[in-house]
Amino acid sequence: MKRAKFITFEGPDGSGKTTVSVQVVERLKAQGYPLLLTREPGGIKIAEQIRDVILNPENTTMDPKTEALLYAAGRRQHLVEKILPALHQGVHVISDRFIDSSLAYQGCGRKIGIEAIYDLNMFAIEGYLPDKTIFFNIDAKTGLDRISSRNFLDRLDCESLQFHQNVFDGYQKVIEKYHERMIVIDASKAIDEVVECAYQAVKGILDEQD
Ligand code: TYD
Repeated sequence: MKRAKFITFEGPDGSGKTTVSVQVVERLKAQGYPLLLTREPGGIKIAEQIRDVILNPENTTMDPKTEALLYAAGRRQHLVEKILPALHQGVHVISDRFIDSSLAYQGCGRKIGIEAIYDLNMFAIEGYLPDKTIFFNIDAKTGLDRISSRNFLDRLDCESLQFHQNVFDGYQKVIEKYHERMIVIDASKAIDEVVECAYQAVKGILDEQD
């Protein structure tokens, strides 16, 4: 049996990765790949409760370090309760967001610094980094324009364009730093094309021999 792979999808708000991940996973499951799709913040009951606190637009006084700690706490629970058990059973895991979101959003968006957020997260995840990360590349303005028509905008969506530009710049640094596990996809294309690119990328990873 091939070793189960841990893959993450990353990208700015409005990059379309959530819609794409559902379609990619449906296609792969139909072909018989054992696959679990999950998401952050959340993915499991305790982490979903933490998610509600983090994303509640009423929590306007939340300190950036509190925010970073809450994301890391949710990630810890998600990892030990859902991701690792699946991998140990031979099920591939795709997580819609993981550590790189914290590096970009809290490290650069909130200006805590990539290194500090990396260290904080290492305490939480004890070295369980993804095997590969698909990055949905789209500039901040285009991403925000895409989500502007949504009925509900969470606390992070409501941040300024400058914040989202800093997140985008943060992601570019993260891509450079961890280039060996990054696959960058042009997410500004039509959704069907993005699905096809992501599908081919994930299938390639799952079919790789270790
Ligand atoms: P969500 O509704 O899941 O957004 P998306 O569909 O874009 O993934 O909300 C998650 C928000 O939380 C999103 O704005 C990114 C942010 N976030 C962080 O700031 N740090 C993190 O570690 C994670 C996982 C998400």
